[in-house]
Amino acid sequence: MIFIERNGDMKKNDFKDKVILITGSSRGIGLAVAREFARRGAKIILNARNKERLGKALKSLKDDGYDAIAIQADVTSADACRKMIEQAVVSYGGLDVLINNAGVSMRANFEDLDAETCRNFVDTNLMGCIYPTLYAVPEIKKNRGSIVFTSSIAGLIGLPTASLYCATKTALRGLADSLRCELGPDGVHVGVVYVGFTENDPEKKVVGSKGGMISPDRPAHMSWEEVAEEFAEIVRKRRSRSVLTPIGKFAEYVARLSPDIVSDTIVFSRKHQLNERFGIH
Ligand SMILES: NC(=O)c1ccc[n+]([C@@H]2O[C@H](COP(=O)([O-])OP(=O)(O)OC[C@H]3O[C@@H](n4cnc5c(N)ncnc54)[C@H](OP(=O)(O)O)[C@@H]3O)[C@@H](O)[C@H]2O)c1
Repeated sequence: MIFIERNGDMKKNDFKDKVILITGSSRGIGLAVAREFARRGAKIILNARNKERLGKALKSLKDDGYDAIAIQADVTSADACRKMIEQAVVSYGGLDVLINNAGVSMRANFEDLDAETCRNFVDTNLMGCIYPTLYAVPEIKKNRGSIVFTSSIAGLIGLPTASLYCATKTALRGLADSLRCELGPDGVHVGVVYVGFTENDPEKKVVGSKGGMISPDRPAHMSWEEVAEEFAEIVRKRRSRSVLTPIGKFAEYVARLSPDIVSDTIVFSRKHQLNERFGIH
């Protein structure tokens, strides 16, 4: 018991005074990640588009005595991202860690998408990570800090009704691997967290057919707090990757053996209606 408490105390300050910006952090995983870093002593910059929800998230951190600000910005806009990074640096005098978390999921067959939905989706999940990173690199390089991307099991294997989600989450791995080669020698840590199915905020919506927004319906395998701890640990240990949930680890292992085994298994499980059990619809 004493050991646990001491261990907890040690962790409490392992990000003391580090400045950490988490995109898409007004709820869900992003807010939990912000709270975890705050608990460990960091200065937090929250971000999202919806002002009211962002304000509530900020208040919840401040009420708990944490040092935080919030910047309303849409990560699909390069200009908004440039201003967000500038404001972050002015507010706290620098930036140590960028967590690219803002993103949207989907539940629609590729054949049921239209061009505009595809464009918006890629803008959020891919450009929405590229723009903040582009403007944050000089500061993070100065501080030999970290850039982390929020991918998914869908970034490791292809899943039905998630084609663009899989495409954008896989692309983050390529981006991260390249950045690691370019920026690693300057002391910058680049990591990717492959998140498994996690609990969802009741207000969360995902992209359906033709751009309509629908409620998510996959089963949760992890809590926000468990996921948030993994984000803090990947930064603390400066690890390149972290694959969450047993299903994620298993899927990655099998995909390495053969992508055909993965797709054949998914087709089989859909046919025999095992898919609901595993969250693969
Ligand atoms: N939940 C899961 O099971 C799961 C699994 C694997 C990976 N992930 C990934 O984890 C991340 C967070 O997921 P979540 O479940 O916590 O999602 P969520 O509940 O929908 O939260 C998304 C957050 O991002 C913000 N956001 C969305 N679009 C934005 C934009 N264009 N600019 C700025 N902020 C934006 C949202 O606020 P506003 O709408 O107000 O902007 C909100 O704060 C995503 O990248 C997701 O793909 C989630």
